[in-house]
Amino acid sequence: MKRIVVTGGLGFIGSHTVVELQNEGFEVIIIDDLSNSSIEVLDRITSITGIAPAFEKIDLKNQGAIQNFFKKHQKIDGIIHFAASKAVGESVEKPLKYYHNNISSLIYLLEEMAVNGIEHFIFSSSCTVYGKADKMPINESAPFKTATSPYGNTKQIGEEILADTAKVTDLRAISLRYFNPIGAHESAKIGELPIGVPQNLIPFITQTAVGVRDQLSVFGNDYDTPDGTAIRDYIHVVDLAKAHISAMKRLLKHSNKTSFEVFNIGTGKGYSVLEVIKAFEEVNNEKLNYKIVGRREGDVTTYYADTSYANDELDWQAELSLKDGLASAWKWQQSLFNK
Ligand code: WQD
Repeated sequence: MKRIVVTGGLGFIGSHTVVELQNEGFEVIIIDDLSNSSIEVLDRITSITGIAPAFEKIDLKNQGAIQNFFKKHQKIDGIIHFAASKAVGESVEKPLKYYHNNISSLIYLLEEMAVNGIEHFIFSSSCTVYGKADKMPINESAPFKTATSPYGNTKQIGEEILADTAKVTDLRAISLRYFNPIGAHESAKIGELPIGVPQNLIPFITQTAVGVRDQLSVFGNDYDTPDGTAIRDYIHVVDLAKAHISAMKRLLKHSNKTSFEVFNIGTGKGYSVLEVIKAFEEVNNEKLNYKIVGRREGDVTTYYADTSYANDELDWQAELSLKDGLASAWKWQQSLFNK
């Protein structure tokens, strides 16, 4: 049984990836510092799969703790690295927190992987590395534009660290550039747990529908799109999780073509904010209270992925629809509200 370490494995995308790894017969060890996740998620993962993943509470900014971890856990076949700070707005307010947490922990992890002969690494990246991309759909050859936030910059720097390191060591790495992750596991036992006021569209929609928020503000309807609202590529978190399994299998089979590869993980389809609201109302039979306000600073008009490279090379493609994502997000929100 292949043994995979998942850092940030109690987080939104991490927990869904742990479930899919276990479903595929991998042994999973979760590392999480619980700074942005709940230990309760561990039992919920176990209740979904019937298998309790091993868990270590570790802050990856503590290199000694990583060394001790690898002394205790031998024969690791690969690492999937989610652990990072990820709030775009907060990164603008606290850049050093983001550079320290996201970059130092990556460097310490890579150094200890080399010491312990661990070669296979999957990196959680983001479409945000493209900045204000010119051409839609975006493919992996699109150049990095100036990052629109320190968060985005940490993803660009992270990819460059991997590319440079993989050139001169045994590291074999794949970076997955996520578009907009949405939804929750069908069991409604795991899902997105935004802290405070949600920045992202879908949790704000579900919190409005369930009554936690009064009204959704739609940030701008004067964009150059059919209905004036901005367009994004919303990918179901379960499809996104499965992409990590496909990428890890590629490395384990040594099918990677170069020592560092990147793939866009999206659906390849874009939906506007008003289309998302309409789809939410239809699939959940809920009327959503919203109003149109001014644009949000830093938002771009349209962003959706060319996923052909991931479809072909990873033998992966998104199977769940926008409505599947919105239905599962709503079911998850209701499970939270009923606590
Ligand atoms: C989606 C659309 C908003 C909230 C972010 C990060 C990106 C990645 C994905 C990490 C936009 C509109 C939103 C609201 C709204 N995360 N909106 N009212 O900004 O596309 O991408 O999440 O990697 O790095 O930047 O996602 O969900 O914030 O916004 O009208 O209350 O919904 O303007 O058009 P975004 P989002």
